[in-house]
Amino acid sequence: MEVIIQPTEEAAAELVARIVAKELRANPHLVLGLATGKTMECVYRHLVGHHKEHHLDFSLCSTFNLDEYVGLFPSDPNSYRHYMDHHLFRHVNVDPRNTHLPNGLAADLEAECRHYEGSIQRFGGIDLQLLGIGKAGHIGFNEPLSALRSRTRVKALTPTTLKQNAAPFGGEDKMPRRAITMGVGTILECRRCILLATGPNKAAVIAQAVEGPITSMVTATALQLHPRCSVIVDEAAAAELKEKDYYRWIFENEPEWQEYR
Ligand code: GLP
Repeated sequence: MEVIIQPTEEAAAELVARIVAKELRANPHLVLGLATGKTMECVYRHLVGHHKEHHLDFSLCSTFNLDEYVGLFPSDPNSYRHYMDHHLFRHVNVDPRNTHLPNGLAADLEAECRHYEGSIQRFGGIDLQLLGIGKAGHIGFNEPLSALRSRTRVKALTPTTLKQNAAPFGGEDKMPRRAITMGVGTILECRRCILLATGPNKAAVIAQAVEGPITSMVTATALQLHPRCSVIVDEAAAAELKEKDYYRWIFENEPEWQEYR
């Protein structure tokens, strides 16, 4: 795992967008794993900018989102399909047929989960997976006690997550209590992972995820097992990390990061 600290939320999101743009230029058939949430909105804004101003081409790439609520129509403004259309898909030249999210309306949700895993396999696996982190330390909707080898499945949301995500639904009682999510095991198979966390609210959970022991209580800690995972944070989210000087040295000196400095 590598931790990269950037001065601001904007700089952290821009760095993530630049990494995605570089990977997409190197491999136009990139299979890109996508995440939702407030943190990612800034990344998608930058990616749209790369497309409009620098002709970043999405026409051959395919995307797989981490998760989707159970029971929401794609047209529902709170569905993750709607989020993706609104923040990214409709502003770039990605082929809508190559954009995938779990279908939270499927009559047989278990079959849908198996089908989603099968689609990822058929596309050759995910090359680059973007991740946010929830207050409960989850990646995707892998809530506390999610098996570290879990696959795509239906997960009941914890009270912490319900509280964190309730606002746009107009209250916890009006939001779905379950979601389909890629499993921790599914995420660990992606070739490269980038977790982005910004703001003071994420400082405690980032310290746990990066420097704490691996535990299914904080599923982001499983990323410590991943061979190629970068955690990109702003100063506010880095506040509780113990080894900040070391992480800063990496970004300032390692050749891999030279082009981004
Ligand atoms: C939801 C998503 C997660 C995301 C998290 C963080 O729970 N399922 O994938 O990481 O929100 O959201 P935010 O960026 O709004 O803090």
